[in-house]
Amino acid sequence: MLHGKKILLGVTGGIAAYKSAFLVRLLKKAGADVRVVMTPSATEFITPLTLATLSENAVTSDFTEDKDAGVWNNHVEYGLWPDLMLVAPTTANSIGHMVSGESNNFLLTVFLSARCPVFIAPAMDLDMYLHAAVRSNLETLSERGVHIIDAEHGELASGLVGQGRMAEPEHIVDALNAFFLANAPLRGKKAVVTAGPTYEAIDPVRFIGNHSSGKMGFELAKKLRANGADVTVIAGPSNVSLADKSIRRIDVVSAEDMLNACTAAFADADIFVMSAAVADYRPKHIAQKKIKKKDDELIIELERTTDILKTLGDSKKEHQLLVGFALETDNELDNAKGKLKRKNLDLIVLNSLNNEGAGFAFDTNQVTLIDRNDNISNFELKSKTDVAADVVEKIIALC
Ligand code: CTP
Repeated sequence: MLHGKKILLGVTGGIAAYKSAFLVRLLKKAGADVRVVMTPSATEFITPLTLATLSENAVTSDFTEDKDAGVWNNHVEYGLWPDLMLVAPTTANSIGHMVSGESNNFLLTVFLSARCPVFIAPAMDLDMYLHAAVRSNLETLSERGVHIIDAEHGELASGLVGQGRMAEPEHIVDALNAFFLANAPLRGKKAVVTAGPTYEAIDPVRFIGNHSSGKMGFELAKKLRANGADVTVIAGPSNVSLADKSIRRIDVVSAEDMLNACTAAFADADIFVMSAAVADYRPKHIAQKKIKKKDDELIIELERTTDILKTLGDSKKEHQLLVGFALETDNELDNAKGKLKRKNLDLIVLNSLNNEGAGFAFDTNQVTLIDRNDNISNFELKSKTDVAADVVEKIIALC
């Protein structure tokens, strides 16, 4: 759920600040874009250099960057940038300032400017954590919409044992994941994405295939998952691997295998994205033994494969959203619109092979989206990750 999310991590000055390094690592590993702001006292517990290196972004702890040159840090921009602000650890002192609305350091000013959801992970000694003032401050923040990640029970830096230590970084990341999942637009939807080429056997060692890498399909799967859908990828032979184990993967080889996997998955699917480059033809007869070369020419008779997308479109139910791809070289818009109608699609992603940088062999793509209501959106050349974001945004709108 954190993939591609912009997380602003605020670090305040308590011993638990050392854990913020682990937190940044976990957030980055989950695919989040992380920026860190610190209170001046937090920099005494952990260096900005450590957090800047781990987050791959400069760390800010002051209102000015270079006083003499008049370069300042724009707290409003910091407040507008993130999808979520997390302050971990949050000391009793910072909690008090948050309640009273003081802004005597950069982090507190960003807190007041933030438009996004804010989470805080308090950390302090147990008596402080239980103090009526802290309890009341936390209640006030909670009433104002700040999400509190409760401190955990255990050994504290003071040597005392009780509740007060900052929640473990893993638990904090779990809380953020749960939050994004609960608010994800495609939560509860089942999505299936096909990806990659198909291989049509000629004999035991040869096949007819194509250059599809599968990248576009896998990027779409990741984006659908990041928006809360339960995702299955049906992949033809592809070297692309999936780090996210919550995405199911079914590997297939031929168009026939893909047809079977797709028809089995279709009944349960709310969203079905057919981005695989399925072979339109296959050898009519597969030789059981390797074909030996002869002096004269070899003719392989081909027969049509089943059009999977059309098969699915013909049995599509009201609640199902079906997305196809079209790769065209001429009369692109009309051909794509024709496919949209013929195959009963809700959306078609048109790739024009006339655009440089678009197509199978590239990490970039340039697409036009045409929906069932004839709305046409043109996009510039982008990374396949960003194209997937555009397509999924359109899917969400159509859902
Ligand atoms: N497709 C499919 N089953 C096939 C072939 C293609 O489901 N046997 C799907 C592709 O995944 C893609 C769309 O259909 O979403 C492409 O449409 P298609 O009419 O096959 O386009 P082209 O392969 O480019 O064919 P044409 O020669 O008609 O342009």
